[in-house]
Amino acid sequence: MLQVKNLVKRFGDKEAVRSISFEVKQGESFGLLGPNGAGKSTTISMICGLLQPNGGEIHVAGIDALKNTAAAKKVMGVVPQDIALYPTLSARENLNFWGAMYGLSGRELGARVAEALEIVGLTDRQKDRIDTYSGGMKRRINIAASLLHKPQLLIMDEPTVGIDPQSRNNILETVRTLNQEKQMTVIYTSHYMEEVEYLCTRVGIIDHGRLIAQGTLADVRRLAGEETTIRLRIAKATEQMAAALKAVPGVKTVRIEEHALSILVGNSAETLAPLMAAAGSFKIQGVEIEEPNLESVFLHLTGRALRD
Ligand SMILES: Nc1ncnc2c1ncn2[C@@H]1O[C@H](COP(=O)(O)OP(=O)(O)OP(=O)(O)O)[C@@H](O)[C@H]1O
Ligand SMILES: [Mg+2]
Repeated sequence: MLQVKNLVKRFGDKEAVRSISFEVKQGESFGLLGPNGAGKSTTISMICGLLQPNGGEIHVAGIDALKNTAAAKKVMGVVPQDIALYPTLSARENLNFWGAMYGLSGRELGARVAEALEIVGLTDRQKDRIDTYSGGMKRRINIAASLLHKPQLLIMDEPTVGIDPQSRNNILETVRTLNQEKQMTVIYTSHYMEEVEYLCTRVGIIDHGRLIAQGTLADVRRLAGEETTIRLRIAKATEQMAAALKAVPGVKTVRIEEHALSILVGNSAETLAPLMAAAGSFKIQGVEIEEPNLESVFLHLTGRALRD
């Protein structure tokens, strides 16, 4: 469905995207995960024809998207990071406008708009002006707008940033249904690793304009090795506590967090008991054991946390 090869984008002397290559198969849900400024939106903008790359190739459903941008755009539905709606128009009027931009009219347009409103669960609010909507509801209308022309490939750029939990859940469920029940191919960009783990079967991790890892969720998780994080919840974690735990055999690193000590170990089964013995005098409020996840993969590959 999508082939991206050696994609490069420079802004002046800043190289925002540095030779990125990946493929997304039909029906797949591909997650593009990376911190702020990693190059996610720049990559997406080039795929959907909004930005001209300085190098590389893009094929969408077999179409050369750099030569035949108009044809490629028909295949894709894009949910941009920034909301693109007219605040003084109602949701339905906005969708009518976007549908007309895709060449829909009459009954077909009406039916598609009704269907899109149903998918995002906002049929009962369709007559209300967008400026009376919450941030999460605006995002859901933005998603509805991307679905009007029944795209084969849905590209979403951080659709859940800064919204309420109810809209977030609605969006995650909508994406899952579109992918699993309607066989829509999805590219989902986020810096929330939980969302990518929930929705995507394959992931790419992007950092400083490079794809530093890609593969199935299982493949990529394995890059963190067998390391497990043990988190001890403590009201006030101190340097002395961290030093005492660092001395326990099997402990790799100890990080002081707000109200917790985060301990990276090679093998939690072997290390947990001696660790708890060493922490015997601390007032521990809880213990959590986290198996390797995309967050630990990112930490392992870059030495930094995914979120700042
Ligand atoms: N139009 C532009 N002009 C100059 N620099 C830009 C432009 N657009 C993006 N950049 C730079 O390119 C880099 C990648 O930006 P991009 O928006 O692709 O990141 P992102 O991964 O989408 O981040 P976020 O999670 O914050 O949305 C950043 O350093 C950014 O400042
Ligand atoms: Mg972005």
